[in-house]
Amino acid sequence: MAEKLGVGIIGVGSIATMCHIPGYQAIADRVEVRAVADVVEERAREVAAEFSVPRAFADYRQLLELPEIDLVSVCVPPFAHRDCAVDALGAGKHVLCEKPMAMNSAEAGEMIAAAESAGKKLSVQFQTRQTPQARLLKSKIEQGELGRIYFARAQYLRRRGIPSWGMFHSRAHNGGGALIDVGVHILDLTMWLMGSPKPVAAFGSTFDYLGRRDDIWNSFGPHNHAEFDVDDSAFACVKFDNGAIVNFECSWAANFQARAQQQLTIAGDRGGAQVFPLKLFGDDGDALYDIEPGPFEELDYKAQHRAAIDRFVDAVENDRPVLVEPQQARAVTQVIDAIYESTESGGLARIGP
Ligand SMILES: NC(=O)c1ccc[n+]([C@@H]2O[C@H](COP(=O)([O-])OP(=O)(O)OC[C@H]3O[C@@H](n4cnc5c(N)ncnc54)[C@H](O)[C@@H]3O)[C@@H](O)[C@H]2O)c1
Repeated sequence: MAEKLGVGIIGVGSIATMCHIPGYQAIADRVEVRAVADVVEERAREVAAEFSVPRAFADYRQLLELPEIDLVSVCVPPFAHRDCAVDALGAGKHVLCEKPMAMNSAEAGEMIAAAESAGKKLSVQFQTRQTPQARLLKSKIEQGELGRIYFARAQYLRRRGIPSWGMFHSRAHNGGGALIDVGVHILDLTMWLMGSPKPVAAFGSTFDYLGRRDDIWNSFGPHNHAEFDVDDSAFACVKFDNGAIVNFECSWAANFQARAQQQLTIAGDRGGAQVFPLKLFGDDGDALYDIEPGPFEELDYKAQHRAAIDRFVDAVENDRPVLVEPQQARAVTQVIDAIYESTESGGLARIGP
């Protein structure tokens, strides 16, 4: 049997302890979590003890020196994604980076260049792609059932769900708010299902009216409104090189009812679909029909992460393509950059190569 792959985890806050470490430990016959690192050294030590991980460091570069580490999960806040990923790739490790890929597309480009020059795999944790509904729809689209896709309505909406822990309220730590935090998930899913056309322009606005208020109810408890300098919502129209359009909406907080957190409708010239829940819209020449496929295996949030981690490990083990190609994740950062640019300029933001 092949030797197990050694895993290192950089940043052991909530996503690492809730999803990444358990995700790797669920496939303990194939991988072993051998080290963790966190700037808060005590936390690194506590997490190492809790999950029986042999090594703990305050400086992630010490973790990267270990020859027994083959791949790392980057689970630090976005401001540190680029440095951790570039250093890890430079040290010859494969990298699974948490979303958003980086603070902006320039940083994402640096990460891709580092992966290419190291010849190592780089991917980003967009676990929603692993839901059975998304996978079925992707295969229907690849079989041509929707034809040419030219429109999508993509929503990730919380009526009141401003993160109240960590540094999510801080632009310096995250590069933005709802748009870069949760908007990335639905943008990635949408662009992937559409066949990854190249985004060419965006026109939109972000807002912070609710996030700055101290008198709103929040499902995650009181948030840091005093230091809130990011967006609580973003709305935009994004255009792609094949002419396709995505109408995009996301919020941590907004004054409307959100039926489900994520909603996605896709229209092609042969058929259409919505994803949450999955429905396929068709026309057989005599009549219209709607199909509700299912039942599906329920894949909760942690199980989605487990499946995405399993898929990344498989890509490393067997030198197969990663599920989330880094260029696809970079394209999402380009759209985000463009929406922030359009907000600032008041005009259309064009997206370069
Ligand atoms: N895929 C998802 O659905 C999902 C969900 C939640 C969070 N995330 C992403 O995961 C990342 C981490 O989020 P979180 O909620 O776990 O944050 P968190 O604040 O709970 O944990 C981050 C940890 O990183 C540590 N850290 C910060 N800088 C570091 C550095 N330079 N070196 C080592 N450790 C460092 C912090 O001390 C902290 O323990 C973010 O990018 C976030 O967007 C993704």
